Amino acid sequence: MKNRELTDLQLMSTEDLELMQTEHERLHRYITNLEETCIHLQDNLNCSSCDKEKRASCHGRVPSFLYVLHELTEKHFYHEEFIMAKRLQPDQSNSYFEKHKHAHKLVLDAFHQAIIEADANYELGKIAEAYKSLYAKVMHELKTHAYEFDDPFIKSMIEKS
Ligand SMILES: [Fe+2]
Repeated sequence: MKNRELTDLQLMSTEDLELMQTEHERLHRYITNLEETCIHLQDNLNCSSCDKEKRASCHGRVPSFLYVLHELTEKHFYHEEFIMAKRLQPDQSNSYFEKHKHAHKLVLDAFHQAIIEADANYELGKIAEAYKSLYAKVMHELKTHAYEFDDPFIKSMIEKS
């Protein structure tokens, strides 16, 4: 019975790990899609350098990028917090969990602000500017969060499983 419980626990851990890795891959794909959509993310040019078709395509994709960022990150952070809560020992200090949860809230707040700014540029027809500001914020927030929280957490999950 004990071995069976242990097996279940290990299997659950592997599934959790796979879910997190799958969602991290979706976030990476989101960034790649941004990079492949606006080709002026990291230069000083804007939509006037692109042809009419490309401009129309970029324009049409902005709302979807804004929606997906919100949906993807909110769901991912929820899953991550659920997995973390499950693995906490009752006698363990929850300060790490609380700190990580708070960091998620700050990232979501920053993305909410980035979405508002990008949407304002979109409404003004400044499409490259919308992509540039969104990309800069997403890269900054996700890189910082992964380095400070997610990478060490995933490493500890692998070591424990
Ligand atoms: Fe996280």
